[in-house]
Amino acid sequence: MIRIDAVKHTYGNTNLIFKDWQIEQGTHWLLLGDSGSGKTTLINIMAGLLKPQSGSVTINDTALYGLSNTRLDKFRGRHIGIVFQKPHLIKSLTVAENLRIAQRFAGLKENQDRISTVLASLNIDHKAHNLPATLSQGQLQRVAIARAVINQPEVLIADEPTSSLDDGNAAAVLELLITQSTINGSTLVVSTHDKRVKERLTNQYNLNT
Ligand SMILES: Nc1ncnc2c1ncn2[C@@H]1O[C@H](COP(=O)(O)OP(=O)(O)OP(=O)(O)O)[C@@H](O)[C@H]1O
Ligand SMILES: [Mg+2]
Repeated sequence: MIRIDAVKHTYGNTNLIFKDWQIEQGTHWLLLGDSGSGKTTLINIMAGLLKPQSGSVTINDTALYGLSNTRLDKFRGRHIGIVFQKPHLIKSLTVAENLRIAQRFAGLKENQDRISTVLASLNIDHKAHNLPATLSQGQLQRVAIARAVINQPEVLIADEPTSSLDDGNAAAVLELLITQSTINGSTLVVSTHDKRVKERLTNQYNLNT
């Protein structure tokens, strides 16, 4: 269960106030809001990447911002998977090596079987030994999802994963996020202002209302 309690964040003279949000383990959510309404900010706050000016984020009884930076990094690596709009992969490492390093960062043992299973479930196992620069956009997106789910996170968060994709790929990426979170029993939060995504996820948290 994730709880967002009394979270506020200020950038200069922009004040963002987020209404409280309780997310049951394993549920699937859309985070909706116009451009500039604070979707990326809230995602970064939920993922332990941005400490809000006030309020708390609790994931399964752990208050994220009560942790030291080192423990927060490890907690994130172990329990939270994030899919950024633009894939964040290490360019000098192959696809499989990027996943291996994500296991190591989380303090887990390297697990080649897990890497193979995840890459196969996303139909990208044939690129395991290639560098990110040699992959297509859609292939990179699948590797980004693989990296996010490699440690079977309790929480899978994606920030506008479909906005730069055509209809077919947008639907495919959304299905992959749903399938992967179902396989792992993860809670799924997908931010979007993409109308095509709205019918596919039942729960909605709307920043405009
Ligand atoms: N680093 C920053 N410094 C100053 N202001 C910022 C910063 N990041 C975001 N903001 C402001 O905070 C508000 C929320 O931004 P945020 O990126 O969270 O919105 P968003 O809903 O993700 O928008 P989009 O749909 O365009 O990605 C905006 O008014 C933005 O200008
Ligand atoms: Mg954004």
